[in-house]
Amino acid sequence: MVPPNFLPDLRTAGLHLRGPETRDIPGWYQRATDREAAALAGDRVPESISEGAIWLAGSMERTRAGERLQWVIDCPGAAENVGTVSLSLRTAEISFVIGRAFWGRGIATQAVRRVLAYGFDELGLNVVRAELVEGNIASQRLLTGCGFRITRRFVDESDGAHCLKMQLSETERLF
Ligand SMILES: CC(C)(COP(=O)(O)OP(=O)(O)OC[C@H]1O[C@@H](n2cnc3c(N)ncnc32)[C@H](O)[C@@H]1OP(=O)(O)O)[C@@H](O)C(=O)NCCC(=O)NCCS
Repeated sequence: MVPPNFLPDLRTAGLHLRGPETRDIPGWYQRATDREAAALAGDRVPESISEGAIWLAGSMERTRAGERLQWVIDCPGAAENVGTVSLSLRTAEISFVIGRAFWGRGIATQAVRRVLAYGFDELGLNVVRAELVEGNIASQRLLTGCGFRITRRFVDESDGAHCLKMQLSETERLF
């Protein structure tokens, strides 16, 4: 597979997934400083919004290098982007974060399924992986609903968290 060095716009019935821009930094900062969500996602909490420029530059650079594609999610009626979905092209791992105010509306399910379809149908991936802490019920339900199954349970030595590795083969997708 030749990794793309650009990020295609992706659409669903209700969402627009696009590349991050400077105007997305406030929405990113709000999500990134939600400590509970950051812990669930395994992300470091930034100390100030000035780190947003580093997030944006890193996100764009990883896309240019064909390492990881990261989309921000626009949702009608929301003033800011509502979350992100990322797909590592090195490990074929998917990750996602939605702002707390938008939880439970099916946004992550729609966005993740769209990115998975892009990965399987356009990039030719055979398998996509995910890693999550065992108590992350919403993520586990979302992934199971797509067809992911648990492939490994392990303890993260850095913090003692009980974690799961999950995997979805192209042939097992349920959407
Ligand atoms: C995980 C996360 C992205 C889900 O976003 P969302 O837009 O609320 O998800 P959806 O509305 O599409 O719901 C997905 C599933 O989770 C369930 N769910 C949503 N919120 C839930 C909650 N608080 N408790 C239990 N289940 C929940 C939904 O019912 C749905 O399951 P179903 O299809 O079997 O009914 C969001 O909670 C989040 O950003 N969490 C913090 C970061 C994180 O955990 N990232 C993933 C790391 S792998």
